[in-house]
Amino acid sequence: MLRIDKRQKRNHCRSGNEDKIIRKGVSSFMASRVFHCLSTEQYDRKFLEEISALATTIRLISKSKAGADRLASLLSHKRAMLYFVQPSTRTFLSFQSACQILGMKTADVRDTSTSSEVKGESEADTVRTFSSYYDVIIMRHYKADFASYIAQVLNNSNRPVPVINGGSGKDQHPTQALLDVYTLMHSFQDKGGVDGKTIAFVGDLLRGRTVRSLASLLTRFTGVKQYFVAPRELQIGADILSYLDRHGVPYTLTEDFRSVLPVADAVYMTRLQDEWDEREGGEKKTINIQDYSITPENIGLLQPHAVIMHPLPRRQEISPEIDNDPRAVYWRQVRNGMWIRAALLAMIFGVAEEILRLGAAEGSSFLETGKEK
Ligand code: MLT
Repeated sequence: MLRIDKRQKRNHCRSGNEDKIIRKGVSSFMASRVFHCLSTEQYDRKFLEEISALATTIRLISKSKAGADRLASLLSHKRAMLYFVQPSTRTFLSFQSACQILGMKTADVRDTSTSSEVKGESEADTVRTFSSYYDVIIMRHYKADFASYIAQVLNNSNRPVPVINGGSGKDQHPTQALLDVYTLMHSFQDKGGVDGKTIAFVGDLLRGRTVRSLASLLTRFTGVKQYFVAPRELQIGADILSYLDRHGVPYTLTEDFRSVLPVADAVYMTRLQDEWDEREGGEKKTINIQDYSITPENIGLLQPHAVIMHPLPRRQEISPEIDNDPRAVYWRQVRNGMWIRAALLAMIFGVAEEILRLGAAEGSSFLETGKEK
């Protein structure tokens, strides 16, 4: 109980660090403009710092009614299409909420059986139709590289609107990696930042796109060591390992979770991605995920300052009893997804500097300290 009270207290007001982030954000912001968001390879360290400062500013401005109303006026002339033909709870809703924060109107297609694709229309024509009505297309698709293909199609059309990849097959989930990095930066802001930390990825690393995206994006930090903890059949792909090799990032592959728990600064848990089993013959069903789970029995091995992450949905790989442990930050990740996606949309539509100016204005009426939202 005491631990929860402490955490709540910490969340109640804006920290000196947040003040610094906002002011540094506005003075050094070089108006990074992004257009499509397709893969984590697009993002450098400077971008990660900018988008994190912006997400924090949006979060703080949103606390007051005046601030929330001002934010909601910024993109009220823009419309977003959410084309999510693979299941999604958090990514879909956080993008929808992010649009609402900035005043954008949204529409969605979540099932190809409700679009003209059932009449034999090609995916490219369907998405090109969206671009006739909407200013950005945010999409989740079961095919790897689908968002990149659509971006190319639109680039060659007379209405090339931005495309945001909200998850493409087993391959990439770039906006999840952005929110994960934001969560790590926030978690380690008083502990020397993300540089030099040891991050352990655990579970189904072969088919987990969040791991693939985050492992690549962490190469933007100095001295980060990565552990990949998985049964051999589900170990991380060779393409990610060669990417880490090219960036001089040290890593270890292991099946022994207990040996990694005491050395990790962050453990990134994942579920078995068995929706891909059928396509692959179901051979992965025999994996004992208990060996790759955090439980009241083994959590004592984790360092006191370490954090436990998960992109969610979870199954048994994190016991619900762990949720009240101060090291569990997966529900914070969920909330951070909304702030970071609002920041991304603000950068795409060129209102980032205006938001930072609103947050940094001396005595800004848009900033109120209060309970963290
Ligand atoms: C994803 O979309 O990749 C998820 O958020 C993680 C998962 O499905 O396990």
